[in-house]
Amino acid sequence: MPHSRKKFLKQISTGLILASLPSIASAKEKENKTTIDPTDFTGTGAPDDEKFWKRIAKKYYDTPTDYINLENGYYGMQPKPVLQAFQKNIEKANKQGARFARKEYPAIAANVKKQLAQFLKVADEEIIITRNATEALNIAIQGYPFKVGDEVLLNQLDYFSMIETFQLLQKRGQLTVKAFDMPLLPATEEEIVEVYKQQLTPKTKVILLTHVSNINGLIVPVAKIAAMARQRGIDIICDAAHALGHIPFSLPDLGAAYVGLNLHKWIGNP
Ligand SMILES: Cc1ncc(COP(=O)(O)O)c(C=O)c1O
Repeated sequence: MPHSRKKFLKQISTGLILASLPSIASAKEKENKTTIDPTDFTGTGAPDDEKFWKRIAKKYYDTPTDYINLENGYYGMQPKPVLQAFQKNIEKANKQGARFARKEYPAIAANVKKQLAQFLKVADEEIIITRNATEALNIAIQGYPFKVGDEVLLNQLDYFSMIETFQLLQKRGQLTVKAFDMPLLPATEEEIVEVYKQQLTPKTKVILLTHVSNINGLIVPVAKIAAMARQRGIDIICDAAHALGHIPFSLPDLGAAYVGLNLHKWIGNP
């Protein structure tokens, strides 16, 4: 089942993530509040439906008027209801301090995790919430039980932070990095799978896959590469920082051992 921003906004409206956190709004705040109307998201919203997206942009986003931001890949804009809930909850946590952190926060965090797991179609125990994809992938990479001599396969289109983490482990003598040049314009998914296949050795233990490249937008067929790797006992660590909310995919279908994601690029959350 594909994930989309449209679907996610809809879920937010029924109480997901930050919008679901409890808050006490003053009358004035209520006046200025933008709430998500689920009917805004029914029946329309194809990617090229300009009329639909213009209406959504006007109602839910506070965009700059003096320039057009074409780079949502760094971090995306939070829709107004999400931003308002975020601000309110920051204020609440700041005001109530330890009392909030000890009494209320554990149940809120557990609920957020539960809803996030449902959205990602995985079990609660399968996810940990980190501050961003870099932290998530660093935990996966640095926590992976590499043995001396294990090889990791990566290429020039992978994200520099992940490459550097593997290089760090190589410097510490924990593994060997095998870097190759990915063709910039592969014609088919099969060609990409074949490129990875050609690079494998009996020592390959992990393949780093960047689902959507931040460099040229290449989308690698993670599930197909994972299936090929699995037959050889090789694990996939998948950097899906640019995939969630950007392209349709299902987390379980990727077949990766570990996937690092974020909610602050294409999902529009903090
Ligand atoms: C491909 C890729 N991976 C990982 C990241 C890091 O994501 P985060 O900001 O969530 O740490 C980025 C950020 O731009 C990215 O482009």
